[in-house]
Amino acid sequence: MTLLFRLLALVALAASLLWLTPVHAQKFDELAQTPPIGWNSWNKFGCDVSEQLIRETADAMVATGLRDAGYRYVNIDDCWQGGRDAHGDLFPDAKRFPSGIKVLADRLHAQGLKLGLYSDVGNKTCGGYPGSRGHEYQDARTFAAWGVDYLKYDWCNTEGMDSASSYTTMRDALHATGRPIMFSICEWGETKPWLWAPAVGQSWRTTGDIAPCWNCEVGHGNWSSFGILRIVDMQSALRKYSGPGHWNDMDMLEVGNGLTEDEDRAHFTLWAMMDSPLIAGNDLRGMSASVRATLANRDVIALGQDPLGIQAFRTLAEGQLEVWAKPLAHDEWAVAFLNRGDTPRRLAFDWKEHAVGDGLSGRNLGADKSTYRWTELWSKATGSTAQALDRSLAPHSVLVFRLVPGPSAAAATGS
Ligand code: GLA
Repeated sequence: MTLLFRLLALVALAASLLWLTPVHAQKFDELAQTPPIGWNSWNKFGCDVSEQLIRETADAMVATGLRDAGYRYVNIDDCWQGGRDAHGDLFPDAKRFPSGIKVLADRLHAQGLKLGLYSDVGNKTCGGYPGSRGHEYQDARTFAAWGVDYLKYDWCNTEGMDSASSYTTMRDALHATGRPIMFSICEWGETKPWLWAPAVGQSWRTTGDIAPCWNCEVGHGNWSSFGILRIVDMQSALRKYSGPGHWNDMDMLEVGNGLTEDEDRAHFTLWAMMDSPLIAGNDLRGMSASVRATLANRDVIALGQDPLGIQAFRTLAEGQLEVWAKPLAHDEWAVAFLNRGDTPRRLAFDWKEHAVGDGLSGRNLGADKSTYRWTELWSKATGSTAQALDRSLAPHSVLVFRLVPGPSAAAATGS
């Protein structure tokens, strides 16, 4: 009888495990079906992070309408750590985070937001704080117990370590907690993460750090940071690796950190067109109306959130003028015109002469059967591809059009 009971219990346990496994797997699979949107402390605040900053940032995300525009993650980057206790468990800096991370996560969750945290593959983070090497499962359990939703995992102090297997160890540790935690791989493109990371995390940095400049490279020793165009130009061969659940990460945004309004808009547009995570990196508490409007442009955000998840491609380059195209669901397209140069450019563009299909549809925009109505997503102007464009494009600026199949109302009525 006892043996029969034990057998039955074993069968029940096996059945429940079989049933549970796919449920957990499914939850992880659903992470980042579209690129994550949120905020991170590093670009503006560096190591100057605190519970107060995170609380105020979350409040500002709600008050400025960014949460309602799709922003979810509030991510604490490096320097939050206080150390490890006698059991080896990580704890936060008690001065900066006196209430602890769990309290902060609970508060954010109550606001409809999510909390992200940072660690590193090596013994130490880039800022010299404790990294997760040798503590992967322990740290993942700590993060899960605190209610963390997103882990950015950096690559400092990893001499001699193998990137794919190191990141896989942390992925497995996160999976083992049962809490779906978005895994953001930050390995700067050093070992071609696009080749191995799609099976490991939901996003991977493709380059070194971003800098708030249009086309510069800023060197610090043997480490460089890159302006907007430099990062865009480094993506050219990578679009095929990106898709739902696994994204090329072009680094956190510099919108509001000193670029001009046109540059901010161009930067934001290109990141959305290229399906990069949109992680704001400015001070959300004191934004100008124009920075807020840039970050909150739902029409531009929607390009990156399109369910097809197909990264934009450069379809035309003529000197400083480039045309980028992105296929969208329901036969729609996004087309962006970028003036990289320092002087205004005339944009004379007859849609009928240009196929943006990239072999996907092969159609000429504006040809008989494929006339599109368009909306320009910064000015909200509307029109039809039946008419050519003739505009001036300011230096370092974009125009971005969403094209919907069908003649414009004006064209249809012949007026
Ligand atoms: C690296 C990362 C940055 C930031 C810092 C923190 O440089 O690439 O995004 O996380 O470390 O020290």
